Amino acid sequence: MAIEPHAFMSTVEKRIGFTDEDKALLNSEADWGLKVAPEMADHFYAYLGRDVEMNAILNVGDGRIDRLRETFIEWFHEMFTGMDNWGKAYADRRWKIGLVHFRIGIEPQHVVPAMATVVNKVDKSLKANGKSEALKDSLSRVCMIDLAFIEQAYLELPIAAIIKETGWSEALFRRIVATGVREM
Ligand code: HEM
Repeated sequence: MAIEPHAFMSTVEKRIGFTDEDKALLNSEADWGLKVAPEMADHFYAYLGRDVEMNAILNVGDGRIDRLRETFIEWFHEMFTGMDNWGKAYADRRWKIGLVHFRIGIEPQHVVPAMATVVNKVDKSLKANGKSEALKDSLSRVCMIDLAFIEQAYLELPIAAIIKETGWSEALFRRIVATGVREM
């Protein structure tokens, strides 16, 4: 494992300004989160399905899309519950989600707009249900935390794999990269 997910979680939480007030507000709306999660999933996979490349990844015909709908609903609900109050279990789970996407070969160019779609749809659902601006802000912050995990995985995992395979030190690896990019 390239980073320690719980330490990363603490850093990102501070950076984004995700507070105890955000957590309490999200917890108090967890039932609502679960109720709207299927509608969010429909919107999310309709969006991904409109892209030729993503549609090909989603519809491989082994029940993947049904599995994904279920994991998305779980994921969305966890944004409100924080699993273990956004502790170790939450951080490990978020790191694993990054790992899964990296392994499948889904690139940041797909993930970033996909998360924007979630944030956008959340905003519409909150307004339609008369929910507060504060809840929108809390949800947006937690979505950015999850996005940071997935993005960081794209950086850390290949570095960790190269270092493991070559036996290089991290300092050597970083020097080679720094030299290479200077010449680009
Ligand atoms: C906001 C961004 C995204 C979120 C929150 C998300 C959420 C998830 C979750 C929770 C899982 C289950 C991980 C596990 O098995 O432990 C998963 C798997 C997966 N996701 Fe995403 N995802 C996102 C973006 C995307 C995009 C852009 C694609 C592109 C097609 C995608 C395709 C997949 C696939 C193919 C799997 C593996 C499904 C399987 O065969 O089990 N995801 N995703």
